[in-house]
Amino acid sequence: MGSTSPFKDHHHHQQQQSYPITKKLLPWALYALLPLAIFRLYLHPLDLFSENEVITKDLQNKPIIVSTAPKPVEEVRNDCDYSNGEWVEDKMGPLYNGTSCGTIKDGQNCMGHGRPDSGYLYWRWKPSQCQLPRFEPTKFLSLLENKHLAFVGDSMARNQLESLLCLLSSVSHPDLVYTNGDDNKFRRWHFPSHNVNVSVYWSPFLVKGIEKSNTGFNFNKLFLDSVDNRWALDLEQIDMLVLSVGHWFLHPAVYYENDSVLGCHACEGLNHTEIGFFDVLRKAVKTTLKAITDKSITDGNQIDVILTTFSPAHFEGEWDKNGACSREKPFEEGEKALEGMDADMRNIEVEEIEEAKNKVIQVDRLRIEALDVTKIAFMRPDGHPGPYMYPNPFADGVKDRVQNDCVHWCLPGPIDTWNEILLQVVRQWEAESMRRRG
Ligand SMILES: *[C@@H]1O[C@H](CO)[C@@H](O)[C@H](O)[C@H]1NC(C)=O
Ligand SMILES: *[C@@H]1O[C@H](CO)[C@@H](O)[C@H](O)[C@H]1NC(C)=O
Ligand SMILES: *[C@@H]1O[C@H](CO)[C@@H](O)[C@H](O)[C@H]1NC(C)=O
Ligand SMILES: *[C@@H]1O[C@H](CO)[C@@H](O)[C@H](O)[C@H]1NC(C)=O
Repeated sequence: MGSTSPFKDHHHHQQQQSYPITKKLLPWALYALLPLAIFRLYLHPLDLFSENEVITKDLQNKPIIVSTAPKPVEEVRNDCDYSNGEWVEDKMGPLYNGTSCGTIKDGQNCMGHGRPDSGYLYWRWKPSQCQLPRFEPTKFLSLLENKHLAFVGDSMARNQLESLLCLLSSVSHPDLVYTNGDDNKFRRWHFPSHNVNVSVYWSPFLVKGIEKSNTGFNFNKLFLDSVDNRWALDLEQIDMLVLSVGHWFLHPAVYYENDSVLGCHACEGLNHTEIGFFDVLRKAVKTTLKAITDKSITDGNQIDVILTTFSPAHFEGEWDKNGACSREKPFEEGEKALEGMDADMRNIEVEEIEEAKNKVIQVDRLRIEALDVTKIAFMRPDGHPGPYMYPNPFADGVKDRVQNDCVHWCLPGPIDTWNEILLQVVRQWEAESMRRRG
């Protein structure tokens, strides 16, 4: 985002009508989950029951006896919904600190910038139905051995990438092997210990786009029918993609499809139809997932795709007012509801991922999953840099006006949890593919 007032476009949220997606989604989710649950019960009856349970019920509700023989593959819960749960206190604290890892972007190094409270570091996400294990760096590296993992998206993608690098750096040193673009927008690291490459590609819309500039055109331009070649041309050498976009869609923009103007958002002064950004995000995600799916079919390459869902901002009041996000604890369950734009952005992403998943023909070639962190993120108003996006902001006394970052996450911080869930997604995929191979 821009350098002086990166969040000044946030007032555009209000211009969106919120449509009742949640109302539509609920019955949809029930219809989708019911057959899924029955199918899973049919394929893997053991997974739903505890290890020592021997008598259970079949689909017609008749008691049946199931074997207690140990499973051949590593135990991985594949019925856990990580997206719902609560933040609970945790004495252990993070795996790294502000200096132990050399890759934290300055603006997110809250420890290094003198954030005085540290309570925000001592929470762990507890999903309602299962445990989320702590991140295991060595496990992650061995699962990705000889592979290339690419983070593609906006500064939230970079934030998640830097969290992952810091977590992995606690066991293995990465070499920075490639860097390009202002502000390190394109980078690649190599972990010699496991021959793993991790990279980041700047692509805030995923589709082809021209970012507005201070000197030239004052609107972003998005081409909704073509993917951004800055990452798409490298697809052949990428094994796993983590996509993360959202906030850039709120900015003023003109949208193109098939070489003609489709409409615009917040484009006062231009003679185009205002169409908001929700359908635009949907089209961009759809175009992206279709391009990846098509490529996997034509090339026969294996690729894994994860989409990290929208991460809400936590501005309370004006972005440049002292105390814009100064909470020191997570919200408690029921204190605030996830709704409005945050929920709509997340729902669009989850719906598009589900649709793409349903179209997959060969599950061993293409695996797609949402990393549904929106609620997890929403519950953490305390995890942002706030004024500590700059070093020691109050060194000359407390000011009334100060720049705040209430969008990105401190490192270490809540975003480390996204990568704990990422590890579980990859473990689950691995366990499933071992089962398939017998
Ligand atoms: C950060 O971690 C490193 C390596 O574990 C340690 O040497 C250092 O003392 C830590 N720094 C702080 C400020 O805790
Ligand atoms: C990692 O990148 C290097 C180039 O920097 C390349 O030689 C190597 O083959 C890549 N390895 C994987 C597993 O992608
Ligand atoms: C653009 O082209 C695609 C494919 O031909 C078509 O499905 C879509 O409706 C077109 N969009 C517009 C706005 O004309
Ligand atoms: C704006 O667009 C409409 C419909 O395309 C057209 O009739 C009108 O002349 C345009 N106005 C200006 C000022 O260009």
